[in-house]
Amino acid sequence: MKIAVLKERAAGETRVAATPETVKKFIALGNDFAVETGAGGGASIPDDAYAEAGATIGDAATCVKDADIVLGIRAPETAVLEGAKSGARVAALFDPFTNGDLVDAYAKAGLEALSMEFMPRITRAQSMDVLSSQSNLSGYKAVLTAADTFGRAFPMMMTAAGTVKAAKCFVMGVGVAGLQAIATAKRLGAQVSATDVRSATKEQIESLGAKAIFVEDVEGIEGEGSGGYATEMSEEYKAAQAKLVSEHIAKQDIVITTALIPGRAAPRLITDEQIATMQPGSVIYDLAVAQGGNVEGSVPDDMVVRHGVTIIGYANTPAHLAADASALFARNHFNFLSAFWDKATGKPELDEEIGDAIRLTKGGSVVNERLKGA
Ligand code: NAI
Repeated sequence: MKIAVLKERAAGETRVAATPETVKKFIALGNDFAVETGAGGGASIPDDAYAEAGATIGDAATCVKDADIVLGIRAPETAVLEGAKSGARVAALFDPFTNGDLVDAYAKAGLEALSMEFMPRITRAQSMDVLSSQSNLSGYKAVLTAADTFGRAFPMMMTAAGTVKAAKCFVMGVGVAGLQAIATAKRLGAQVSATDVRSATKEQIESLGAKAIFVEDVEGIEGEGSGGYATEMSEEYKAAQAKLVSEHIAKQDIVITTALIPGRAAPRLITDEQIATMQPGSVIYDLAVAQGGNVEGSVPDDMVVRHGVTIIGYANTPAHLAADASALFARNHFNFLSAFWDKATGKPELDEEIGDAIRLTKGGSVVNERLKGA
């Protein structure tokens, strides 16, 4: 099989979908591997490193020509894929709920679109899960960026000139990114608290040494939907949560928000009124900004100041850690395809559970159940 990796075309996208390590592994499975000139530049991987791993380096058209599989971070426009084999597979992020036109274009081009963000949350798919690998890095980087923007220190320091107070850091949404944000803020010496709608996270927060801030005594506070994801909460819950947050947030220096609900806009967790109660100089990092934002006034790819509070809204936080983000994404791709490698046919044969979950288009049609219902 011929596998191709192109330079990412989206503005600000520094990641790359293969590393020399994964190129070697794919070649060891019996494939040819082509990498577009400069594809690894943003992640500090020179063309020579891919060539040493056994890849051929060339322009996009040469790489794509006769490719059976194209791996990406974000799915490229179909025009870039002309010349690939008929029915070629493209595994990447498609953002399928908002990119309907792109999905339709893949169907029309007869390509098989494999949406990595639809990877099911089952134990055997953990090593293939790009949302987890990238969220983990996002949680870490959000805290570092917030700390760097904050005009004070994180840890308490007793100095001859007096005591520096520990920063108070509040994490909203304790999934993969939130857990890493808690751990990172703790390591930096902040006093950390956190909240989520899924009650299972309470124990996880406490086991990291942080304080759990939870809505109590409201109907239906379980908050866990299918696949370990959150569900949309009741109006009663939302009102109780807003009150709790209002009381807590005024005392916080740093707030990291990560709350997402699959297939929907991110829940609004912080209003402008609440921001106004925070101390000037405080910092909020909205990791959900690309999905509509948890924070009123956050702006994608910008840092804005409201009521003296800095709101950071970098839409692609993993791109700020391009080398590690690429290494993990590339391994997710390899773990995924190699798990299904059929030695007899020399190609991946996806099983029903994972194949049906992530396949968006095949044979000229949109085939994914989640999109049919969308
Ligand atoms: P996510 O990125 O979908 O959402 C982030 C967090 O925001 C979640 O914890 C969610 O409960 C929370 N949230 C949603 N609405 C909220 C609201 N209104 N207020 C406060 N918090 C809100 O979640 P993520 O990081 O993808 O993880 C979700 C779960 O899935 C976790 O339990 C994680 O451990 C599990 N997981 C399992 C995997 C597997 O088995 N393969 C892979 C990755 C995650």
